[in-house]
This record gives sequence, C-alpha cells and structure tokens, in this order.
Amino acid sequence: MKVIVTGGAGFIGSHLAAYLSGQGYEVAAVDCFHPYYPAERKERQFQALTGGRVPLVRLDLLDGEQTKRWFAQFRPDAVYHLAALPGVPYSLEQPLTYIDYDIKATVNVLAAAGEAEVRHVLFASSSSVYGDRGNVPLKEEMADGRVVSPYAAAKYGAESFCHAYAHLYGYKMTIFRYFTVYGPWGRPDMAIGTFLRRLMNGEEITVYGSGTARDYTYIDDIVAGMVAALDRSGSQSEVFNLGAGAPVTMEQLLVELRKHFPDMKVVRAPERKGDVKATWADITKAKRAFGYEPKVPFAEGLARTVVWAREYER
Ligand SMILES: NC(=O)c1ccc[n+]([C@@H]2O[C@H](COP(=O)([O-])OP(=O)(O)OC[C@H]3O[C@@H](n4cnc5c(N)ncnc54)[C@H](O)[C@@H]3O)[C@@H](O)[C@H]2O)c1
Repeated sequence: MKVIVTGGAGFIGSHLAAYLSGQGYEVAAVDCFHPYYPAERKERQFQALTGGRVPLVRLDLLDGEQTKRWFAQFRPDAVYHLAALPGVPYSLEQPLTYIDYDIKATVNVLAAAGEAEVRHVLFASSSSVYGDRGNVPLKEEMADGRVVSPYAAAKYGAESFCHAYAHLYGYKMTIFRYFTVYGPWGRPDMAIGTFLRRLMNGEEITVYGSGTARDYTYIDDIVAGMVAALDRSGSQSEVFNLGAGAPVTMEQLLVELRKHFPDMKVVRAPERKGDVKATWADITKAKRAFGYEPKVPFAEGLARTVVWAREYER
C-alpha cells in the first residue's frame, strides 16, 4: 500500500513515516522545511527516525499545480496530511499566514488527493477547535467553531474543507484531533521541549497562568492510533479525538520534572492570550471505531523524553 505523509519531516510526521515504513508500507514524505523552527532540526529528526529508508520530497503544498502533479505521479492509496504551521502564539502575530499554511495548503492536498483517486485522506486537526471549555472531557460533537486563537480557527476551517472534499470526491476522510503530543523529537517550541532545553542548561522555566491542564499524549500512542485508523470501518467522513484521556495539571508536570531536575527554578507569568485553560479528551469514539488504546502513562513518557533530550538536545 502506498502512503504519502505531508509534513513528513516534522515531529509527528517523522515518527509516523518511520513507523509506516517499518510496517512495510511504501511511504513518501513531503515537506517544505518551513522555518517556523530550524530546518536543520527537521533534517536531524527525519534522518534519526527513518534511518534514510523513506524518500523525502521537498515541495511546498501551497503550490497547487506541483502538488497535483506529484500526487498523480506517486499514485498513493492513502494520504496523511500533517503539514501546517502549528502553534498558538505565532498565529496571533501572523494570522494570515495560518490561512495560507493551514487552510489553502490543505485545500490543495484535498484536491490533489481527489484527482489522484486516493481512497483515504487522514487529516491532522487539533484539540484547540473545542475552544476554552474548562476542565471537562471533550467529545467530538462539542466543537462549534467558538475558538480562541487564529490557529484554532484555521484548523476548524480546514476540517470543514475536509468534509466538503470528501463529499465531492468520495474518498474516506478521517480527521484526528490531537491533544498536546510529546515525546522524543517533540516540537522545540512546545512547553515540554522548551522546559527540558532550559533545565538542561540550568536556566529557570516560565509557567504561564495558573490552574492549567493538558491531556499530554505520548507520540507512540498517537502514531498507533493514526495507523489503526487506516482500516477503520464506518462512514465516509469521521472526526476522532486522539488523546490520553487523562489530563495532567501544570503542578503535576512540575512535580514530575523536579524528579529529573531537583534544582529546577520556576518563574510565574500571566496567562497568554489564545491559550485555553484545560484540555481533556474523551476517547470513547476512537476506542470503538479502531481499538485506540493509549498505553504510555505520563510519568513514563516524560522519563523517556528526558533520556532522549539528554542525549540529543545538548
Ligand atoms: N504536536 C502537537 O501537539 C499537535 C497538536 C495538535 C495538532 N497538531 C497538528 O499536527 C500536525 C503536525 O504537527 P507537528 O507537531 O509534527 O508540527 P511540525 O511543525 O513539527 O510539522 C509540520 C511540518 O509541516 C511542514 N509544512 C508546513 N507547511 C508546509 C507546506 N506548505 N508544504 C510542505 N510542508 C509544510 C513543516 O515544514 C513541518 O516540518 C500539524 O498539522 C499540527 O497543527 C499537532
């Protein structure tokens, strides 16, 4: 089976491409090495995880014609579309860029997949589409467009295009809403990546707001869920939460970090605009549809990430 992973040199994309290739899929990764974080880091993670076994095509998906041509040439059975500009804070500075990278590029991929007669498109959306709901389990049907950042608005808009193009072209559409993914090669701008780098350098870490919680989800669990969903039964267009289903408060995260960095110093700052207070995935739907079952408890996942960071993030 032939599979394209867009955003294949990114954090989640590199892990997914490596796993699929190890399972015998014929995988091609597509990435434009957007400078949101350094291209050199993306090259390192892609090489370290795939071991050079996955071909990488340098292509900007904002170029609709090139995207169509290349999809038609490769003729994939399935496309995982992960390429996007991630991150809430930068979307407050550059909202229009998110319309380009998170919506327009998605529409190009959806059209190219349709023209190439792809059977299944799987899209990386985000828990941010639920907006700020407080500390309650979030069910798929609760998203109603009332989001609190341009990043979330772009993801919600992109989801709508996914439903529309699945209808127009008749392919199966699976939309994943990931909940704060972490692990080895985790994105360097996210909280855990930032904290670990600073702690290893003996620097203080900054915690924004109070009473926050995130449903941190270990990368291997996300990848297992994404691959299990390839063969899902059920209707053409479906949305699934992929989370741990077990929110971790900031105070719990600090307790776990202190076990690895006993001299840790914490600075408090006001909450940042665009951030939600808490996320908590209800994962019942993914469990039923394709047996999704997160396996890595937070303390264990964090310990593995610290081991990785001490070796690679110096
Ligand atoms: N990491 C998380 O916790 C998380 C949570 C929710 C949703 N997501 C979504 O999952 C996806 C992957 O996230 P990630 O954390 O691996 O981010 P990442 O930034 O590491 O990976 C995204 C990759 O897409 C590439 N890209 C961006 N625009 C492109 C374009 N026009 N053409 C080709 N390549 C392009 C980038 O160069 C990058 O390598 C994103 O869509 C993100 O919004 C991630």
